[in-house]
Amino acid sequence: MTIPSVELPSGARMPTFGIGTWRMGEDRRRRKDETDAIRHGIDLGFTLIDTAEMYGEGGAEEAIADAIAGRRDGLTIVSKIYPHNASRRGAVTACERSLKRLRIDRIDLYLLHWIGGEPFEETIAAFETLRDQGKIADWGVSNFDRDDLQSWHQKDGGRCGTNQVMFNLARRGVEFDLLPWMQQHKMPLMAYSPFDRGPLARDRDLKAIADRHGATPAQVALAWLLQLPGVVAIPKSVDKVRLSENFGALKVKLSDADLADLDRAFPPPRRKQSLSIV
Ligand SMILES: NC(=O)c1ccc[n+]([C@@H]2O[C@H](COP(=O)([O-])OP(=O)(O)OC[C@H]3O[C@@H](n4cnc5c(N)ncnc54)[C@H](OP(=O)(O)O)[C@@H]3O)[C@@H](O)[C@H]2O)c1
Repeated sequence: MTIPSVELPSGARMPTFGIGTWRMGEDRRRRKDETDAIRHGIDLGFTLIDTAEMYGEGGAEEAIADAIAGRRDGLTIVSKIYPHNASRRGAVTACERSLKRLRIDRIDLYLLHWIGGEPFEETIAAFETLRDQGKIADWGVSNFDRDDLQSWHQKDGGRCGTNQVMFNLARRGVEFDLLPWMQQHKMPLMAYSPFDRGPLARDRDLKAIADRHGATPAQVALAWLLQLPGVVAIPKSVDKVRLSENFGALKVKLSDADLADLDRAFPPPRRKQSLSIV
């Protein structure tokens, strides 16, 4: 099954469906299962992997390194920098540490994890230096609401590749203004926590719709995100069966009636809501 893709500022393509790795790399005893899970995800056809220096304080990046050894080509690796490292000098050394843990020579997409104390100009300059040095191909941000993204955009020379935010059926606030703004600027939105960290995968309203398709609630939660233009979904699982189930969401095509039922069960925002953050 081919995964659709969106274009990044470098001209590279990013798949609209990938795997998350938060809570991985925290315990050495679980490392092999995590590596096997990521490997299984790649075997299924996932080529986008999302991580961060924060996840397991580098442990998730190391688990990814083991999983992608010998098969890095064709993968889009996304990592994120702590805001406290996102200064001109700090970003370069933090990125080098991530590259070393991932055992690759370039990160495909490097994101500011959330807004911290560094002026935007400093982080943008650091990201551009890293891009000039070939250590990253594209860069972007995470957990930015529209006003912040707009003010970042005024300084970024049009080079911001994405904004990764919490977005799922239970948290649709971004549809009010952030997603339309990003769609208008042709900037893909990476939707994190597509299951709202778990509950949506057990949701009864989703189950009713899933039953019509011989699918599961988790697959419907993902299929809903995947049908939105410019949206990238990154579910996380360390369970091979669930990873296969999640990949199967690509086959679920929601009808207009399904979408209307989803709007009734999970109403879209009618006014500005503050950005959901984990
Ligand atoms: N930029 C940011 O600030 C930020 C914040 C949060 C997350 N993220 C990224 O987004 C990724 C996804 O978000 P998330 O990890 O917060 O939450 P999520 O993907 O919404 O949910 C993950 C949870 O759902 C379970 N799960 C996965 N597939 C399932 C299925 N088919 N059926 C039932 N349960 C299932 C997982 O358990 P098992 O693993 O046991 O299967 C895990 O407990 C993260 O891993 C991370 O890469 C980014």
